[in-house]
Amino acid sequence: MKVLTVIGNRPQFVKAAAVSRILREQAEEVLVHTGQHYDDEMSAVFFSELGVPPPALELQLGTGTNTEQTARMLSALAPVIAEERPDCVLVYGDTNSTLAGGLAAAQAGVPVAHVEAGMRSFDRAMPEELNRVLTDHLSTLLLCSSDAPAAHLAAERVVGRVEVVGDVMVDVALLVQPRALADDAPLRDAGVTPGEYVLATAHRAGNVDDPARLAQLVELLMALPLPVVLPLHPRTGARLDAAGLLDGVLAAEHVRVTPPLGYLAFTALLTRARAMLTDSGGVQKEAYLAGVPCVTLRDTTEWTETVETGWNVLVDLDRDATLAALDRPLPAERPQLYGDGHAGERVVAALLESFPRLSA
Ligand code: UD1
Ligand code: UDP
Repeated sequence: MKVLTVIGNRPQFVKAAAVSRILREQAEEVLVHTGQHYDDEMSAVFFSELGVPPPALELQLGTGTNTEQTARMLSALAPVIAEERPDCVLVYGDTNSTLAGGLAAAQAGVPVAHVEAGMRSFDRAMPEELNRVLTDHLSTLLLCSSDAPAAHLAAERVVGRVEVVGDVMVDVALLVQPRALADDAPLRDAGVTPGEYVLATAHRAGNVDDPARLAQLVELLMALPLPVVLPLHPRTGARLDAAGLLDGVLAAEHVRVTPPLGYLAFTALLTRARAMLTDSGGVQKEAYLAGVPCVTLRDTTEWTETVETGWNVLVDLDRDATLAALDRPLPAERPQLYGDGHAGERVVAALLESFPRLSA
C-alpha cells in the first residue's frame, strides 16, 4: 500500500522524476529528501523543472564526511520508517542517501527496492562502489538498467529478485532532449555557438579532493582547444578555492564557469556540445542518448556499454589522451543500450508485483 522513497542528490531527483508520478497513480508514496544536496540549484530546481512531487519530509543531513553523513541519515531515517511502516523502501543509485535509506529499511525489516542495481566500477576506493555493493546485498528487489549489471548481481549471488527494466534517467532524457535542442538561451548566456564548445563537469572525490589530481584536472581544462562551459559542482568550487586554483580557472578566456545549472539549461548545452567531458555517471548516459561523444575523466566506468560502442573514451586525467579523444571520428551506429524510455513504468510494475499489498 505504501512506498517510502529516499532521495537526496541531484541525480536522484532526475531519477525520481521518471517514477514518482507513475507510482502515485497506483500506490501511496512518501517521499523523503535527506538534504544531502540542499542548494536551490542542486535540489529545488529539479523538483520545479521536472515535476517531482514535493517531499513529505526534508531532513537537513548534508555536509560532513561520508561516514558522518551516512550515520546521521541512518539515525534520522530509522524513526521515520518506524512511524510510516511502509511496505517497501525505494532507493536509487549509489550515494550515501541510497545506502542509508536501504540499510535503515533492512534493519527495520522493511523490504528494499534498488533502482540502478548491479552497477560496478570494481574500484572499492570509490565511496559509490561501497554504497552500491552494500545496497544491492540488502535489497529484496534489484532493478537494473541493462543486462551487464544483472550479470554482476548473478555473479555475486545476491539474495533479492533481479529484473532488467531499463534506465529511468533515459525516460527523462528522451522527453527533455528534443525540446532542449530548440532552447538557445543557455548557449547565448554562456556565449557559445552550437557544435563549437565542450561542456565539462567534474565532482568525483577521486578527482577533486586530492590537490595533485585537482591541479592535473585544471591543467587539462587549460589545454583544451575549444571554448569550455564548466557548471561548477559545489564540491569542486570549494576544492579549487582552497587550492588557490579558482581564480586561474575564472580568468581563463576559453573557460566559461557557471553555477550548477538546472536540468533544462544543462540539457540544452549538452545536446549541442561538440563533446562532453565529465566524471559524472548520469552525464555519460545522457551524452550517449544525445549522440554527443563523451570523454570520461576516470579510468573506470560503470556504463561500460557506452565505451564498447565507441561513444565514450576513458582518459582518467591524461591531457594528451583527452586531446586525442576529442579528435576521434564518431561511430556510425548508436544502438539502444538502456531501454526505450519506459523504465519508470516497469519499475512501478515490478514494485506492485513484488509487494502485492502496494496495490491492495
Ligand atoms: C554526491 C555523491 C556522488 C554523486 C554526487 C552527485 C556520495 C558519496 N557522493 O557527491 O556519488 O555523484 O553527489 O552530484 O554520496 N555542497 C553544497 N551544496 C549542496 C550540496 C553539496 O555546498 O547543495 C557541498 C558541501 O560542502 C558538501 C560537498 O559539497 O560537503 C559535497 O557534497 P556531498 O553530497 O557530500 O558529495 P558530492 O560530491 O555532491
Ligand atoms: N546536471 C544538471 N546540471 C548540472 C550538472 C548536471 O542538471 O550543472 C544533471 C545531469 O543532466 C544529470 C545529473 O545532473 O541528469 C547528473 O548528476 P551528477 O553528475 O551530479 O551525479 P552522478 O550522475 O555522477 O551521480
